[in-house]
Amino acid sequence: MLKGNFPIEQFVTQRTPFYYYDMELLGQTLRTIRQEMSLMPDCEMHYAVKANFNPRILRAIAAAGFGADCVSGGEIKAALAAGFPSGKIVFAGVGKSDEEIVLGLEKGISRFNVESAAELEVINAFAAARGVKAPVSIRVNPDIGAHTHANITTGLAENKFGINLEQLDEIMELVLSLPAIEYKGLHFHIGSQITDMSDFVALCNRINNIQDDFEHKGVPVGDINVGGGLGINYEHPNHLPLADFHSYFETFRRHLVRRHGQTLHFELGRSIVAPCGSLICKVLYVKEGTHKRFAIVDGSMTELLRPALYHAYHRIEHLGSPLDSASAVKQPGDVTGAEPLSKVSEQPELLYDVVGPVCESSDVFAKAVSLPQCRRGDYVAIRSAGAYGESMSSGYNCHELPGSFFDGEPNV
Ligand code: LLP
Repeated sequence: MLKGNFPIEQFVTQRTPFYYYDMELLGQTLRTIRQEMSLMPDCEMHYAVKANFNPRILRAIAAAGFGADCVSGGEIKAALAAGFPSGKIVFAGVGKSDEEIVLGLEKGISRFNVESAAELEVINAFAAARGVKAPVSIRVNPDIGAHTHANITTGLAENKFGINLEQLDEIMELVLSLPAIEYKGLHFHIGSQITDMSDFVALCNRINNIQDDFEHKGVPVGDINVGGGLGINYEHPNHLPLADFHSYFETFRRHLVRRHGQTLHFELGRSIVAPCGSLICKVLYVKEGTHKRFAIVDGSMTELLRPALYHAYHRIEHLGSPLDSASAVKQPGDVTGAEPLSKVSEQPELLYDVVGPVCESSDVFAKAVSLPQCRRGDYVAIRSAGAYGESMSSGYNCHELPGSFFDGEPNV
């Protein structure tokens, strides 16, 4: 969806802030991934549900034939409700509770991606008590630093995730000895918002070494799950709306030495859903500070936490108002009056700090952004917010959770 194409006249009945989803773009993304994956035999995509678990988004992704990567019992339930078959659900996470393990066993999910020896023993005990075998992959911490924000790198030895390399032999011995565990393969995930393909090349090289080592020792390797992590272009959502799926899959095609009959699993989240979502807010007030000008909008860190939490950049676009016509109606408290759009666009852009109403200084979407003159009631779109936006929203300050607006059909 190009700038200016947001159907703002349809927004007037929608309580702001809300998430706008371009379902055609989501469909295009899903078709592109399927096309790229068709060039590789025996590949499966498990969408990382944590990125966005809005039921309509999940249903579209399930309808495209993808599986689901879940990190809680709640996500497993959401995935099942949206139509993901249990045989296409994988379950990761360092802290799976007893209830969640039992749920996974009862529903017959396809994998527990196990992150510690202690967890393995607990899963074995629950499976044995039910007279079943739990399908398990071992999550390996490959000790690879990704070129991304420190808070979203996961594959370093200092991170809490996975089994460290020096403990791998020991855990493999345990996994192969437990009677109610069915060993399936190895799982990796090095971090998120990775756009430098050399990070994925490093992951492939690490996996190749581990496979060689296992074979040398006579230990089975099984399937390989390389996790997710592909980044998107947050700067240019209109010109580069799709992640570079071609380079991503090509990297694994070229650098990962796959064994005969081995299935390769991916768990992309952000790159599938981030581009199709925008947080739509309304300008409440424009306030002149001593050195700066604030556009105070009705959306905040409670709907989109990423800027406050990671200093993440999201492009902000001024959409104007459906009242932008010669017969514009003056809004309560609007001291400037709603100028016709033609007049507004003739005016020079101004610098704004775009901030929300929450009582935290970090409740800032962006500082010193150049925007057309903002007036009370104007809509702004905070772009590329489809991943880790709605799913990380909270009720802080007794804010209601944001609603959603779906534009078009994904046609998958
Ligand atoms: N697989 C595992 C085991 C993961 O932990 C994650 C993300 C993914 C797959 C999906 O990664 P993606 O393709 O989305 O990069 N809230 C942060 C991102 C946290 C990612 C956590 N794990 C953010 O807003 O940037």
